This record gives sequence, C-alpha cells and structure tokens, in this order.
Amino acid sequence: MTARAQLILANRAFLDHEAPRWADSPSTASSGGLLAAVRPVIQPWDGREGTTWIGVGMGRFDREWVDARGYEILETPRGPLRHRRLFFGSATWQGHYGEVANSFTWPLFHLVRADLPRLTGYYPAPQPPSSAGWQSFVLVNRAFAEAACEEDGAQTCWVQDYQLALVPAMLRERGYRGRIGFFLHIPFPALDVVRPYLSPEVCARLRTIVEGMLGADLVGLQTPADVERFVAAASELCGAREADGGLEVGGRRVRVGAYPVGIDPEEVLTAARRGRVATRVRQARELGLPVVVGLERGDFTKGIPERLRAIAEAYRQGLRFAYIGIASPTREGVEAYDALDRQLERDAARAREAAYWVGCPFTQVRASVGWEDVVALQRDADVVFTSSLADGMNLVPLQAAVAQSLRPADERAVVLAGVDAGVTRVFGGDGQDGLVGVDPLRQESMVEGLIAALEGRPVRISDRLIHLVRERDARSWGERFLGDLEEAC
Ligand code: G6P
Repeated sequence: MTARAQLILANRAFLDHEAPRWADSPSTASSGGLLAAVRPVIQPWDGREGTTWIGVGMGRFDREWVDARGYEILETPRGPLRHRRLFFGSATWQGHYGEVANSFTWPLFHLVRADLPRLTGYYPAPQPPSSAGWQSFVLVNRAFAEAACEEDGAQTCWVQDYQLALVPAMLRERGYRGRIGFFLHIPFPALDVVRPYLSPEVCARLRTIVEGMLGADLVGLQTPADVERFVAAASELCGAREADGGLEVGGRRVRVGAYPVGIDPEEVLTAARRGRVATRVRQARELGLPVVVGLERGDFTKGIPERLRAIAEAYRQGLRFAYIGIASPTREGVEAYDALDRQLERDAARAREAAYWVGCPFTQVRASVGWEDVVALQRDADVVFTSSLADGMNLVPLQAAVAQSLRPADERAVVLAGVDAGVTRVFGGDGQDGLVGVDPLRQESMVEGLIAALEGRPVRISDRLIHLVRERDARSWGERFLGDLEEAC
C-alpha cells in the first residue's frame, strides 16, 4: 500500500474562492511552487478516509463556501478533497505573513552562499520581526496545530514550509499521536553567511524556528546541501547531535533527508497541447529572431535585475533575439518587495534601449498570466532564462523541459538556471542535457551562458532530462517522503 498523508497543513489553501457561490464560475486555483508540488499528493476523500487539507482562508469569497468551522468538500481534478480554512484578522496576518514569513524568514533563508543584501543593493536585509509580529506568527502556527489535533485519528500530519515551521513542535507538545512530517520548500541558509544578521534577538527567533521543525519525526529539505546546512545549524543552535540518517535531540531521533520536489507532468502537457502561440512569439519568428523568455513570480530571489543586465550586455555585443520577460505580482503590500520594482524598472529601461539599437523586440512586464499562456511560452522559447540567486528548487526549468518535449529534439530550447537553485544541483547544470547553470552574481557567466544558448552550443533539452523530470514527479516525491516518514516512526 502506498503511504498516505491524511492531514496536509499549508499556509495556502488548495484554492482560493475568488468568485461568489451564486456566480457559478469556477474559482481560480492559487498558484506557486508549494501548491504545484503538493496538490498532486492528495488522496480523494471518500466520506471517511482521504486527505484533509488545512490552509488559510485568503479568498475574497471563502466564507460563503465553508461551514461555520471552515470546512467544505472541494471538487478537484483528483477527486473530492476535505478542506478546512482558518481565518485571521488583518493585523495577525500582517505580523505572520508580512513580517515574520516574508520580511524575515524568506530573505534570511535564501542567503545560502553569499550576503545578497550587500552584493545586490536591492535584496532586502532580513528584518527582525517586532514582538507583536512574532506573536502573530506564533498564534497562526498554534491555530494550525490545534486544528490538526481536532482531526481525531489522522495518523499522518504533513506540515509544509517555513510559514508553519513552529507547528511540528507544537503538535508534539499537544500530544498529537500520529506521525509528524515537515518539508521545507525553500533553501536552508548557511549560518556563516547569515551571521551578520544574527543579533542575539534574531538568533533566538531562528533557534525557535529550527526547534519548531525538529518537532517532526522527519524533516525534509530540497537538496543534500540544504540538509548539511540544516544539520549544522540544528547542532550549533539547538545542541542537536548528528545521528545516523538525521539528528538526536532531547532524547528523540529526528530523521533528516533531501527530497527534491517535482511537478505534475500531465498538467503541463495538457496546457502545452492547448496553449496558443503568443503574438509576440509569432512576430519574433517572422523577423527570424530566436525567442528568450524569463517567467516567474517577481521576487527578489529570482535574479531578474541581473538577468536584464546580461540581456542588455548581449544586445550591446550585437546579438539579435527577442526577449519576453514576465514577472507576476507576488506578496503585494509586503514592503520588502518595493525596492525590487524600482530596480526592475531601471534595468528594464536600459535593456530596452540596448534592444532598440539592434532593432530587437524587448518586453519586460509585471503581469499575472494564465497557466496555459505561461506553458505555451515555455514550450515555444528557444532559451528559457531563469537566474535565481537562490531557490529551493525552481519549477520553471522542470515545466519547460516537459512543455518542450512536444518539439522535435533538435528544435528544443536550452534552459539557463542559477547555480544555487535546487534544480541545478539536483539535475546537474553542466549543459549535457540542455540545462546550464549560470552564476547571477557574475555577469560574464550570465552573458556567456546566454550567448552559448543562443548559438545552440550546449545540447538542447534532452530526452534524458525530460525522462528524469517525469520520473521524479510530484507524486513520487510525496510517496518517497511519506514512505520514509512511516519508516521513521
Ligand atoms: C513559493 C515558494 C514556496 C512558498 C510559496 C508561498 O511558491 O516556492 O516555498 O511557500 O511561494 O507563496 P505565497 O504566495 O503564499 O506567499
């Protein structure tokens, strides 16, 4: 029998209701890396058994769809899902999500190799949360732990990501009797790199976060490098001792391992078969120009300014190509994101000017684009240019590999990815399979990578890469994690 997660706890709900009940129009599925990886793992609810998903009610019309305790049965492509939403007031949400999760933990945890605030000028320094903000974070985590404890008989609780890092320890304190798994979708930082930000107060917060994660029976991270950094931090901050396959802490064994996430290849293929060729792609083809695309959430970890500078430099060197860059709005209202927008405008203006002098079309927009259009661009690109400064995995290269499988092997794209993104570490960025690691902190590396990709010098996306991405999909990720969690208990 395959392992099952009876309870999935994620900050994000499975989907947000953005339409009222009477409107009879389907609610848009929320997007993002966490959901792409976790959604395929659910087991249909048969009235007695299956997955119960607990997430925050963020949709405008959520309350209309749920009962007094936040429950509903959602119809999903994978069958019915028992779903519960927890609701919080705006001050609590701002403290939990705006302050602790996204102005402190997110920027801090992405400092894996270098002090990015110092090196980039726009990457925000991790902001120590106010004590009210921290209390909100504790309150939201506690609400999740309590909701999980109300689910009598659920034998496995799988807690997702940094927003809920305190939940595993809280479950243990409350005597939760099932197995507790925790998975961190983002990187775990190197203590030596984050040390300039570790005031005694910040250090205490980080220790509490790590202790929270250590409440789990199994802590999963994306890559072996993340595991190493986590083990080192748990030893230094929490006095944990390395033990076979994990850590020993407070007389307990905590298994720790690398479980790189995957995607749902069928979902990508369906969209790739349906998606129409974008007008901008058609125009570029008419001009005989290759198409370079950059698509992601407009996040300061994605290295978008560095990419725009490399693109400007390539145009200045006389290279001719069309660029389509789309940064989708994300975490709006979180202050840490403001500086990025200003930087993007400046770098996009320079790249646009350089493109103009060589007569090439250049687009960089901030827009939410529908799933089919995103996949169509990934399918039609000649170069998929990602450049994360750090990234848990980065699903764009994986989606692009599957979308491009519809093209003949000799017409496929080359995918560029940041050397510190999980995808490069896991799938190898030496170019042999059409995935090339570039260092966003070194402009020569970015420009050389782009030029080589435009010249088709590295091998294009190979059948081998496509096969690997299909094999290590989201479902097999879930099964591996849950299988190991069963074994760990
Ligand atoms: C991305 C990251 C996930 C994170 C999610 C949160 O997808 O890869 O690790 O959980 O963002 O997104 P949100 O929109 O809820 O802030």
